[in-house]
Amino acid sequence: MKTVRDLPSLRQVIADWKKQGHSIAFVPTMGNLHDGHLSLLQRATELCDKTVVSIFVNPIQFGRGEDYETYPSTLEEDKKKLQSLNLNLLFTPDLTELYPDGVDADTRVNVPVLSSILCGRSRPTHFSGVATVVTKLLINVMPDYALFGEKDYQQLLIIRRMVSDLCIPTEIIGMPVIREEDGLAMSSRNAYLSPDERKLAPIIFQTLTNAAQELEKHKTNYEDIEKEGYQTLEKAGFKPEYFSIRRSSDLNEPGMDDRELSILVAAWLGSARLIDNVKVVIKV
Ligand code: PAJ
Repeated sequence: MKTVRDLPSLRQVIADWKKQGHSIAFVPTMGNLHDGHLSLLQRATELCDKTVVSIFVNPIQFGRGEDYETYPSTLEEDKKKLQSLNLNLLFTPDLTELYPDGVDADTRVNVPVLSSILCGRSRPTHFSGVATVVTKLLINVMPDYALFGEKDYQQLLIIRRMVSDLCIPTEIIGMPVIREEDGLAMSSRNAYLSPDERKLAPIIFQTLTNAAQELEKHKTNYEDIEKEGYQTLEKAGFKPEYFSIRRSSDLNEPGMDDRELSILVAAWLGSARLIDNVKVVIKV
C-alpha cells in the first residue's frame, strides 16, 4: 500500500489507474481505525480493482468546545491494521493541503434540511463540515464507489443527497453497523468511556432493540415509544439528546403507513457523546 500526503500525488495515482481502466472504491475516515472501518475497507476491496482510504481529522466538522484537539490519533497503529487488507492507497493530507486558505475560508457545502434535524440540532455546523470535506475528497479521488457506515445514518443520508444534488458520479454504498459483542456500536469515541461507563454503554443498543420490538408488534404510538426509550436512558445515567423514530428514507417523522423506520439515538455518557440506530421493517 502506497501512502501519499498531497493532492497532486493523489491525482497522479488516480489518473494512472483510470488510464489503465481500473475501477476505484474510496473509504474516507478520521483514523483510529476499528473493525467498523475495516468492514468498509474489506467491502471496498471486493467491489473494485483499486481501493483508496483517507485518514484526516477534519476540524470544521467539530463545533467549538468539542473534541477536535483530543480526537484520538493513532496513525502508526492504523497503518498496521491497514496492512492486513489488500488496499492500494492511503491518503493522509495535512491541514493546509485540504484547507490552503485556512479553515475559515468562505466555501461550505450545505445540505440544510437534512442537516438541521436530530444531531444537527445540537451540532449546527457539523454536517456542513462533513459535506464540505467529503466533497473535497470525492472530487479529487473521483471514485466509482464510496462507502459509509450506517452507524452515522444521518451522515450517510446527507452524503447521498449531496452527491445526487451535485451530480457527483460516485455511487454511495451504506454498510451495516459493526458492534462489540455486548451490542455497543464500535466508535472511536468509546475510548472516552471509563470502565464503569463502558459497562453501561450497551444499554443504548438494548433500548433501541426494545423499541424496535414494540414497533414490530405494530405499535404506532411513536411518541410513547420515544418517551419510554428516552426515559430508560435517563434513568440509567445517560444524558440523552434525542430518541427518535423516523422514516428511514428521509428521516422525516413517520406516518402510520410507513413500513421502513429507523430509531435513532444520541446520548451523552460521561464525556462521550454516543450515537446509534436500528432499522425496523414492519411486515404487513
Ligand atoms: P469516522 O468516524 O472515522 O468514520 C469513517 C467511516 O466509518 C464512516 O462512514 C462511519 O460511518 C464508519 N463507521 C464508524 N463506526 C462504524 C461502525 N461501528 N460500523 C460501521 N461503520 C462505521 O465519519 C467520519 O469519520 C467522518 O465524518 C468522515 C466521513 C470521514 C468525514 O470527515
